[in-house]
Amino acid sequence: MIKFSKKNNLLSLHTKNTSYIMQVFKNQHLLHIYWGKSMVLTERNNYLPLDERVNMVNSDPADKSYYLEDLPFEYAFWGKGDFRTPSLTAVDGNGAVISNFIYESHTISNGKPEIPGLPSTFAEEADDAETLEIKLIHKKSGVSIYLLYTVFPSFDVITRNVKIENRGSSQVVINKIMSATVDFVSGEYELLTLPGAWGRERWIERQSVSHGVVSIGSSRGISSHQFNPFAALLSQGASEGSGEVYGFNLVYSGNFVAEIEKNQDDRVRINMGINPFTFSWKLGAGESFSAPEAVLVYSDKGLNCMSGIYHEFYGKRLSRSIYARKERPVLVNNWEATYFSFNEKSLLEIASKSKDLGIELFVLDDGWFGERNSDHTSLGDWVVNKDKLPDGIEGLSDKIRSMGMKFGLWFEPEMISSDSKLFRSHPEWALQLKDSPPAEGRNQLVLDLSRDEVVVEIIRMLKEILGTKAVDYVKWDMNRSLTDVYSSTLPSDRQGELYHRYVLGLYRIMDEITSAFPDILFEGCSAGGGRFDPGILHYMPQFWTSDNTDAVSRLKIQYGTSLVYPQIFMGAHVSAVPNHQVGRSTEIEMRGNAAMMGNLGYELDFNKLKNEELDAVRQQIVFYKKYRKLIQFGRFYRLLSPFEGEKASWMIVSQDKSEFILFYYQILAEANMPRTLVKLTGIDVNPIYKETGSGDIYSGSELMYRGYFLPRFTVDFQSVVVHFYRGDSIG
Ligand code: DGJ
Repeated sequence: MIKFSKKNNLLSLHTKNTSYIMQVFKNQHLLHIYWGKSMVLTERNNYLPLDERVNMVNSDPADKSYYLEDLPFEYAFWGKGDFRTPSLTAVDGNGAVISNFIYESHTISNGKPEIPGLPSTFAEEADDAETLEIKLIHKKSGVSIYLLYTVFPSFDVITRNVKIENRGSSQVVINKIMSATVDFVSGEYELLTLPGAWGRERWIERQSVSHGVVSIGSSRGISSHQFNPFAALLSQGASEGSGEVYGFNLVYSGNFVAEIEKNQDDRVRINMGINPFTFSWKLGAGESFSAPEAVLVYSDKGLNCMSGIYHEFYGKRLSRSIYARKERPVLVNNWEATYFSFNEKSLLEIASKSKDLGIELFVLDDGWFGERNSDHTSLGDWVVNKDKLPDGIEGLSDKIRSMGMKFGLWFEPEMISSDSKLFRSHPEWALQLKDSPPAEGRNQLVLDLSRDEVVVEIIRMLKEILGTKAVDYVKWDMNRSLTDVYSSTLPSDRQGELYHRYVLGLYRIMDEITSAFPDILFEGCSAGGGRFDPGILHYMPQFWTSDNTDAVSRLKIQYGTSLVYPQIFMGAHVSAVPNHQVGRSTEIEMRGNAAMMGNLGYELDFNKLKNEELDAVRQQIVFYKKYRKLIQFGRFYRLLSPFEGEKASWMIVSQDKSEFILFYYQILAEANMPRTLVKLTGIDVNPIYKETGSGDIYSGSELMYRGYFLPRFTVDFQSVVVHFYRGDSIG
């Protein structure tokens, strides 16, 4: 999988279908040679022919054709003649740029090391994963950079991360450290990203890569609703089923950046890592710093193939939670049913109806603690409100459990209300600038997770409540971006570390709590989908996809999210109509069919539904439970994009291809339209597949090559979910 050819200094990484090749070149520079479909290089010495050029800075006095700006680097430095946006910027104690790191050595080892303090994917023995660690050095300063690459051959994945170590005698300041850089020598590309906003997260956007730098990212302290830490370069015109795709995803929940630069020679560089705009880090003598992991996926068969690789890999190698491979419960959450106005009686009324409909988990959302009757107060005061819940959380949990359901509870542990006992006793625990009142978001402030005592207190509080064993599920919310990012405990020349120290504090809490309570199912949330990233998903194997629960809005949100993240990660709820976010009314079938492509839940008061609607809900839950394993763990394929028209469709195929479910949604209808013939994908060609409802039979080849006629809907917001099974598995 990882080979070193001494003769021409080639380091090559091979997965099942891909090759990634670099070379220790002249002057010990580590260059990027190739990444793409599996390939063999013959032994030659001119993989990168050099030519004399005009008006370039010559970086090697002995070679008039050696220009750094002309070379594809594996990790790029600034200051010696490469003028593109670099992988690293760092200065020594005199303020002089440390640049031009050169290869010193490399090691190849089995498995995959963890990254201290940061979440990452992991290898199991059966994966035959190998890790290449390349050491680059800067002799004068004593600073070394370690580039780590782990190859997962059967998953077709390569992960990268970077460590910097200061073995010199004086301090160094890092101003930028990317987790991965790839220099593409040639090619016309499109850039695909997942921009959005609250309530419309992860919409798909494509643009052609033209000269200059395009940069996407977050400076909000969270990975954000506005951009997901994902970017892909596509060969022009690449589609779901064809074309080359290079995916980059950062396992990080704070400020990140992806920079895409096309230079004068049409060479394209992509960098991904912590956002340098808000970052600096002092590295004292003897210290080291690790950058987060980037997960790289190549597909020569289009976007569906790339997504399939991410889905399988993340489904199996991102979260160590016991729930990662377990079927998830159908839940009801009281948030949109009651908001802050509830008491034990009203909750139990919803719960009792829920149980009757087949719900398995009752989740009590915001409002159960302190004086929390609105979002102006009490974050930080995690003591049950006895006016609402006289028997406390344990009493309520007992009652829910005795109905035969599990009990879940909402927290927002990173926050503090200025109107709270906690703030009155520890105002200094909130992030805030000296002599300037902090900006409030949703009427609340953010706790300074760089402070040890704050982290310790959050861990203590969570352990105390979860230690009662009354809680089977936790929804971990986080409802605002960071501002006033100043910590009175950090010296002035370390304030640039605070955003990252916040994330490290958060990961420490999540690690400790999820390890201490392995039997609790954790779901991440950040005002909906504001932190839907692999960093959080490492600790919590599901995430509330968006606060927008409208079935039509959810088509785009879930479709975009599926580019990278498997459907089992996506919390998807049926809510009341008119929808609380967009005011749209859709039938219960449409809402159920949109939600049941993911991790199905309900977020309404069943007591307010009509009998026909309750019957529909009951049937949805029966259907979902029957096919839950297939829906939650099957292979997901996108068929029709809601970004390209008024229809959306996708399908989920079981791992052995013996059954699949097709989902089809009509958004706005037009008069007198024909049926759509959609080509299915991912199933076997030869067998016969039977449509469970109608009994109609089709060959796999017909469904894939000719297609399947979708129903003709003549009114808005209609949908259908159709199950098929393979003929030889009939009975
Ligand atoms: C934002 C979440 O996304 C909602 O689901 C809900 O939990 C509220 N916060 C509660 O404040």
